Amino acid sequence: MEVGMRKWLLAIGVALGLNALAQTGKLEIFSWWAGDEGPALEALIRLYKQKYPGVDVINATVTGGAGVNAKAVLKTRMLGGDPPDTFQVHAGQELIGTWVVADRMEDLTALFKQEGWLQAFPKGLVDLLSYKGGIWSVPVNIHRSNVMWYIPAKLKEWGVTPPKTWAEFLATCQTLKRKGLEAPLALGENWTQQHLWESVALATLGADGWANLWSGKLKFTDPKAVAVWETFGKVLDCANKDAAGLSWQQAVDRVVQGKAAFNIMGDWAAGYMSTTLKLKPGTDFAWAPSPGTSGIFMMLSDSFGLPKGAKNRQNAINWLKLVGSKEGQDTFNPLKGSIAARLDSDPAKYNAYGQSAMKDWKTNRIVGSLVHGAVAPESFMSQFGTVMEIFLQSKNPQAAANAAQAIANQVGLGR
Ligand code: GAL
Repeated sequence: MEVGMRKWLLAIGVALGLNALAQTGKLEIFSWWAGDEGPALEALIRLYKQKYPGVDVINATVTGGAGVNAKAVLKTRMLGGDPPDTFQVHAGQELIGTWVVADRMEDLTALFKQEGWLQAFPKGLVDLLSYKGGIWSVPVNIHRSNVMWYIPAKLKEWGVTPPKTWAEFLATCQTLKRKGLEAPLALGENWTQQHLWESVALATLGADGWANLWSGKLKFTDPKAVAVWETFGKVLDCANKDAAGLSWQQAVDRVVQGKAAFNIMGDWAAGYMSTTLKLKPGTDFAWAPSPGTSGIFMMLSDSFGLPKGAKNRQNAINWLKLVGSKEGQDTFNPLKGSIAARLDSDPAKYNAYGQSAMKDWKTNRIVGSLVHGAVAPESFMSQFGTVMEIFLQSKNPQAAANAAQAIANQVGLGR
């Protein structure tokens, strides 16, 4: 916006006593919602600009699913004393174990009270954002990790149905291979392999076993946990060999194009297929809980925080207010594939996938995602990629289990 125009807006704003209009300066929002997964954030930014036309918004994105690249850039900036005004961070240990314990974030408890958010958000979610008497970020959504995506018309053509257990999945995989489908499961780069692993682990261990892994009660070297890697190895045999070079979107594309039958991915895949690819949920594409996890909702939540030393603090606070508002959440989430974190969101604004996720969120057993920051500290999570590499190279369940336990011991998981 031109300087003259901004001054003019400022003058009107001050004259009318309107704080929103009077707000000027910049706002840098840092996230990994670039390109294909940008539309939801862009819609939220448009809404912000309507409310604060005098503010220059810098949509600072670093491409790379699950924040694989963005998190590294953020670290450099935070440690270098150049924090963005606000940044995307997962609720749970990714936020707490990293930036809160390092004393880099502002406590948002007063804002939560002022905005009525203690009532607006589920208590379990507020707990995930809380640490030592403070609340440290504002959740914009709830995503589900354990979802299996497919194209109904294709399954019909191949004469198979969505498998309900991993044993059934492996049998279906053999059927599809016999029908000439080389890689029935579409898989992408390392973090998406970890994402698949967490669905296999949830099915193998059950909700309690999964929780026990993160509280330290169940060791990775326990035979039950070693068995996760055994099943995972068999599942990998159903996947494409060029996984390492594919983004999560490219893996979804393989399913959409009929080159693969299934993909296990979080429900940002629903956002991608409906918002970007313009497919109709329920008819053009469909979903089921990942095998063996029916009745369990593995959740994660994207949130925004306020780093200490933000250069445009008031603009960032206004952003957080929008992020936590009903209007903001019901603008963002229908495009993103997630559901609102708020309890009062309007189901009519969501498509068939969103509405089914809302139902499951209310009725299912809730557990947290590893890969997307909810259950383990970043110190564990950031090394889990290496465990995955060890497994991919050795195909040895015990070796992977030992490596995971070594990291768990090193970071003091569950202590
Ligand atoms: C997750 C994030 C989602 C989506 C996904 C793929 O970690 O929570 O909102 O962006 O990564 O990049």
